[in-house]
Amino acid sequence: MGNQGARNIAWSKDLEIGIPVIDADHKVLVSLLNQVFDTVGDNEEKATLGSVLNSLVEYTEYHFAREEKLQEVAGYSGLEAHKARHRDLERQVMEIRSRFEEDPDSVHGGEVLDFLRDWLVDHIEKRDFDYRDACLASPDAIAAAARIRFGESDADREAQEREEARAPAVDWAALKVLVVEDNRNFQVIIQTILKSLGVRDIHVAGNGQEGLDDLAERAPDLVLCDWRMETMDGLEFARQARERGSQARIIMMSGYSDGEVREKALAAGVDAFLEKPITARGFLDAATKVLSHV
Ligand SMILES: [Fe+2]
Ligand SMILES: [Fe+2]
Repeated sequence: MGNQGARNIAWSKDLEIGIPVIDADHKVLVSLLNQVFDTVGDNEEKATLGSVLNSLVEYTEYHFAREEKLQEVAGYSGLEAHKARHRDLERQVMEIRSRFEEDPDSVHGGEVLDFLRDWLVDHIEKRDFDYRDACLASPDAIAAAARIRFGESDADREAQEREEARAPAVDWAALKVLVVEDNRNFQVIIQTILKSLGVRDIHVAGNGQEGLDDLAERAPDLVLCDWRMETMDGLEFARQARERGSQARIIMMSGYSDGEVREKALAAGVDAFLEKPITARGFLDAATKVLSHV
């Protein structure tokens, strides 16, 4: 669990640029850095660290796309140099993730944190402040940057630009989500991903019974449920949810999902699977699929 809290990074005014969408992104990045540290010693350390690293890679790419759009529309003269620094940072974050994928034991949260903290926080404090004045003066640039959404690929964006009236994907802001997960770190990672996508109504249940209570009280549209939990596992939760008439779409998160496990879960009423370590992209695809089949 979270240890050595003093080494966590606190958000401060020193990091605030004054452009709300950028500050909001930077807050998420700082929160992801802190989550790397919190995974140290977790009973599912590899799965939690892997999930945070995935989110960090995805979120960094998205944030850089937003910042580059901002600078481009504002006509900021330092754009090319800033882009080069972003590519460099991306390469390094990807390198850590690849190393983790090859050999999870070669990467430790504490060691990664020092590196990322120096890099990311240093970049925000030193480089991002350089574009601030040029971009603050351009409302068009700020509006264009705000249109870049987390979870959208370049291909999605291009398709949208070509055909503006395409059926909207999921309306994240209107979605009621329940997370049934007993691991504290996963609770935080999942909430970070959900909030980044624009989900506002999130309830986290620490066990299956609490989850069933929330189904009855709040009738969520989507449930993200862990497979392995104390007292009531995800399978039993799904079974009871269906017995009680819940129509919610249920996505099961699991570190292992062979054919037999999948069959059992589908029979219990699960709609889709998400493998741990999770990625925002994986969640997005699963959620979009199950929600468009309502
Ligand atoms: Fe930034
Ligand atoms: Fe930047």
